Amino acid sequence: MDTVLREGKSKIICAGPDGGSLILRYKDTATAFNGEKKEDLAGKGKLNAAISNQLYAYLAENGVETHLIEVLDETSALVRKADIVMVEVIVRNAAAGSFSKKYGVPEGTALKNTVTEFSLKDDALGDPMINESQITALGLADEQELACMTGLALRVNGLLCALFEKAGVRLIDFKLEFGRYQGRLILCDEISPDSCRLWDADTEQKLDKDRFRRDLGDVLGGYREILRRLQDVRQV
Ligand code: TMP
Ligand code: ASP
Repeated sequence: MDTVLREGKSKIICAGPDGGSLILRYKDTATAFNGEKKEDLAGKGKLNAAISNQLYAYLAENGVETHLIEVLDETSALVRKADIVMVEVIVRNAAAGSFSKKYGVPEGTALKNTVTEFSLKDDALGDPMINESQITALGLADEQELACMTGLALRVNGLLCALFEKAGVRLIDFKLEFGRYQGRLILCDEISPDSCRLWDADTEQKLDKDRFRRDLGDVLGGYREILRRLQDVRQV
């Protein structure tokens, strides 16, 4: 059994075969509202691993450098050990979630431009929103890194929007994490229905973790649909 280094809400991080890598194991646990709501959904780990691996492969094919080295099995991946930037990058193509609540805009409202936001990666503080001067003031990232993360996040957004559009899915918003690796910033963590809002393009049906957050039922039905559609469009 691998040495567990850290157990997060949805993944376990284990030591890799050498000092430069880690093993990520996806768990079945779903959490929301900073862990206040928590449930085990059998099969969620496999679904998120498969979806994230598909998206990471697609991004790598399109020149985005990511932490993924190799898929190990249905719930595990070997990844580069990067120094995680303690700031999450959120990209919004339409209003939803905290943005809708905070600014009083109905969910699904199109935005005149793509929104990027940062939040402090700190569960104990509830991942508060943080601006660029606060990030540099606290030494969490420098200006060059912030510009790089924003540029990469927008590039990832363009690529993901194009892929999801083919799959009949509207990418409403998502969260990314980055890590420092050999002097560069690379994409880390997962990209899955846990970290994205994904709506059916025709019906606006939610196919993401809002089904869990809002008790909409059949949470994994949405995740399965996302995986099925991604597999379809990626085969062409
Ligand atoms: P928000 O509307 O709640 O701020 O969420 C924006 C996006 O970020 C949404 O796609 C869900 C994702 N997200 C995470 O991945 N982790 C989190 O802890 C939160 C709050 C949001
Ligand atoms: N990821 C956070 C949690 O697990 C919040 C969320 O995604 O809603 O509590």
